[in-house]
Amino acid sequence: MAAPRTALSGVVGALPQAVNPLALSLNECPFPPLPAVRSALRACDGAANRYPEFLPQRLRSLIAGHDGVAEEQVIVGAGATGVIMQVLHAVTSPGDTMVMAAPTFDGYPIFAQMARLRTITVALDAHGHHDLDAMAEAGQRAKVVAVCRPHNPTGTIEPDVEIERLLTRLPEDTVVLLDEAYVEFLTADQRIDGPSLVARFGNVVVVRTFSKAYGLAGLRIGYGFCAADLGRQLWQMQLPFGIGLSAQVAVAASYDAENQLHQRIRMIAAERRYLQARLRALGVYSTDAHANFLYLPGGAMSWPEVFDGTGLQVRHYADGGVRITVGSRQSTRAVLGAVTAAG
Ligand SMILES: Cc1ncc(COP(=O)(O)O)c(C=O)c1O
Repeated sequence: MAAPRTALSGVVGALPQAVNPLALSLNECPFPPLPAVRSALRACDGAANRYPEFLPQRLRSLIAGHDGVAEEQVIVGAGATGVIMQVLHAVTSPGDTMVMAAPTFDGYPIFAQMARLRTITVALDAHGHHDLDAMAEAGQRAKVVAVCRPHNPTGTIEPDVEIERLLTRLPEDTVVLLDEAYVEFLTADQRIDGPSLVARFGNVVVVRTFSKAYGLAGLRIGYGFCAADLGRQLWQMQLPFGIGLSAQVAVAASYDAENQLHQRIRMIAAERRYLQARLRALGVYSTDAHANFLYLPGGAMSWPEVFDGTGLQVRHYADGGVRITVGSRQSTRAVLGAVTAAG
């Protein structure tokens, strides 16, 4: 006789699998959390009867120390998503305008709608780069401008001097979300010095997350840092008891295990280069990728026809392009197999 199905078995059975070579649509990390992070998480479950801190001071201080900024410059949220919404709630009113690229991270149009903002979208060029001149122009009338670096879905990065040029052209009261959700995949010479940038531009919020390279998407931890004045304003909107107990132990354990995390990041970047080279050998172009995914523009092939029915979960775009998260070698083989079969 089958064991009776309990609420718990139903819920646990429906959890996403940590390792799933076909799950390539959300730019998650393909590896389960590191053992040290898992044991740290177990260490906090016995305190679940207690509230976390009223405001996440300790997590804020941990992040500030790690990134080399003052505590008052940091805000913390439920993923980068929570941080972005916190910024929008703090600095915009319904009817204000937000500028973003198109296509961009799917969240942005949703966040704008939730904050009741009008949007101006600026098309990327054929190689997935921003038109920063057009964004500067549109930003003259906007309260918020969002720029992702690396960009999602194309993985491209704009040179730091071009980002600075954009900032000098925007009004001082237009808040710029410099979304660095994938910054850990950049090499040292590709990174922008965030603390120095926010010291020079009081309207920039650098947004980061533990969902991507740190592999903690399910825990929902993100943060932003900016100039102290703006930081104090944003902290006013910090949700009381809004960050669960597990966040600070997971972040501390991840910082302690950073060598292992960097090894994983290097593996993912190497797998991305391999997949990109193999696709190129098959005559398939992808944009200049700098994160844990590749973007194959539309036109060359009908990507839905290539991937539908293969079991692979990838993200299709209205312009016919497809974004594929870099996973294990097994994922790479599945992607190459689908493309070869369709070619
Ligand atoms: C560019 C970018 N920003 C923000 C996010 C949101 O990340 P999270 O809310 O999981 O931290 C994502 C997730 O895909 C993203 O790609």
